[in-house]
Amino acid sequence: MDPKGKVVIVTGASSGIGEATARQFGREGSKVVLAARRVDKLQALADEINRMGSGAETLVVQADLSKLEDIQSLVKQTMDKYGRIDILVNNAGFGRIDWLEKLDPVKDIQGQFDVNVMGVIQTTRQVLPVMIQQRSGSIIQMCSMAGLVATPTYTVYAACKHAVHGFSEALRREVKPWGIDVSMVYPGGVATEFGAHAGINRKTKATTPKFMLLTAEQVAEAVVSLVRRPRRMWIIPWLWSFTVWMNRNLNGVVDNTTINRFTIPEREDELKAR
Ligand SMILES: NC(=O)c1ccc[n+]([C@@H]2O[C@H](COP(=O)([O-])OP(=O)(O)OC[C@H]3O[C@@H](n4cnc5c(N)ncnc54)[C@H](OP(=O)(O)O)[C@@H]3O)[C@@H](O)[C@H]2O)c1
Repeated sequence: MDPKGKVVIVTGASSGIGEATARQFGREGSKVVLAARRVDKLQALADEINRMGSGAETLVVQADLSKLEDIQSLVKQTMDKYGRIDILVNNAGFGRIDWLEKLDPVKDIQGQFDVNVMGVIQTTRQVLPVMIQQRSGSIIQMCSMAGLVATPTYTVYAACKHAVHGFSEALRREVKPWGIDVSMVYPGGVATEFGAHAGINRKTKATTPKFMLLTAEQVAEAVVSLVRRPRRMWIIPWLWSFTVWMNRNLNGVVDNTTINRFTIPEREDELKAR
């Protein structure tokens, strides 16, 4: 699908990957629907896209993706203005990264599932009848390496992204006959606001190596290219595919390395105190 003139909903367009993705669709001359809670940020980006001179148009919708009524309103406002939806980028999400017993049961655990899983499922569910009616559409799911390889302190976040993986696999096989493509992106670490909201605090300072750290713009380019050429899965950067292979085929090695190099050094003081 050529994104020019197409109606695209980008959730979580107020920062990071979603913001860069919306901007990229703006350059392509799409009709971009920007959704998130921080409407001031969305409006500033919409103004920037409108000034690009690419023929792009914008619609700003304030929406909390954990609320079904906001999702329904997002789809309604899009249909009222444009009468169709060609592309859905399910990107909005956040992580609270800590040991399971330290996560708040409501804000951190239920909250992540509400946005990262239910938000994705309900938004897709609301958009799908439109795409089925059109007999065409492209759905891009913002997964994560955590949706393929689960690491300590990422329990709930990994569960969410594994859920999105399973949901998207089944969905792709459901909707293909209607001309609807479902593609999944699996970025490793990306330099965005994600880290600031995640509450990560590590003794080992373990983090994504600099040469593997992506920019939001690199992920956005991958998203737009998936509209042109859908793919089941896209792991970026590709070097992470090696970790995915190790996790699948040499799981015991990954267990031991993770426990000895990360879990035990991180929890040393607590373990000694017992
Ligand atoms: N950064 C990484 O390392 C990384 C790696 C792999 C995958 N991802 C995934 O990429 C996606 C985007 O993350 P990012 O890195 O770009 O982080 P980010 O800069 O923090 O952006 C997150 C976006 O999600 C929106 N959002 C969060 N909760 C929401 C809610 N309840 N309702 C509506 N929108 C909500 C935020 O908007 P408001 O706050 O304005 O609502 C914001 O626009 C997420 O799904 C994340 O899991 C990130």
